Amino acid sequence: MNKRRPLIAGNWKMNKTTAEARDFAIRFQEQVADITDVDMLICAPFTALSALKEELEESIIHIGAQNMHYETKGAFTGEISAEMLLDLACTYVIIGHSERRDYFKEDDELIAKKVKAALDNGLTPILCVGENLALRESGRALAFVRGQVEKNLMELTPAELAKVVIAYEPIWAIGTGKTASAEDAQEMCSGIRSTLAGIAGSVADEIRILYGGSVKSGNIASMMAQPDIDGALVGGASLDVEEFVKLVQNAR
Ligand code: 13P
Repeated sequence: MNKRRPLIAGNWKMNKTTAEARDFAIRFQEQVADITDVDMLICAPFTALSALKEELEESIIHIGAQNMHYETKGAFTGEISAEMLLDLACTYVIIGHSERRDYFKEDDELIAKKVKAALDNGLTPILCVGENLALRESGRALAFVRGQVEKNLMELTPAELAKVVIAYEPIWAIGTGKTASAEDAQEMCSGIRSTLAGIAGSVADEIRILYGGSVKSGNIASMMAQPDIDGALVGGASLDVEEFVKLVQNAR
């Protein structure tokens, strides 16, 4: 019996001004006010977090960031610390998104440090893992993703690991309209869970694993029906209020 609470998280990426974020928050909140059986989260750009705090701090909707630095403060021009995110009512932070790994050259060592720093500061890290098309086509996807999970989480205690959320996001499915089949996604998420069990034993059953990659209101239900998929990390479809509301409703 799966006792993990579903989580539907929007990743706005580099989208929305403060005014647009505020407008979304007001309208979204109105339409999902009666939903108590799914955790809802919006991961916004840093510049929109203050507006979201004002609109959502007292609501059931959680606020998250898309990245952070592992140090608390200091001479790190352009960076944001966990403490600053807590100040803006964030409870979650995405770590190691494939766009950060690819475009900003974040490696496994850096990502492991960020996950640990998020936990040390009381933020829930959403660790993103996933293979590219070449790895998928060569049949090495699961081995690669298992390696990412191990390298990014190996240093954590089981109690720390229990607080992590994993997002399995095959890179070839992100923003392409190509979703992994529900069966393929389940196979990968099940493999991730068994890797977690190898690190932390039975705690693996408590860890939420999300699927991400072209999730829409029309395909979320088939993903949620899989035993090892506990929610979704949603890019494009989280930008439109009506679509994201529908997606949350269809996830239930
Ligand atoms: P899309 O839903 O736009 O494919 O993006 C997925 C993603 O990268 C979420 O983090």
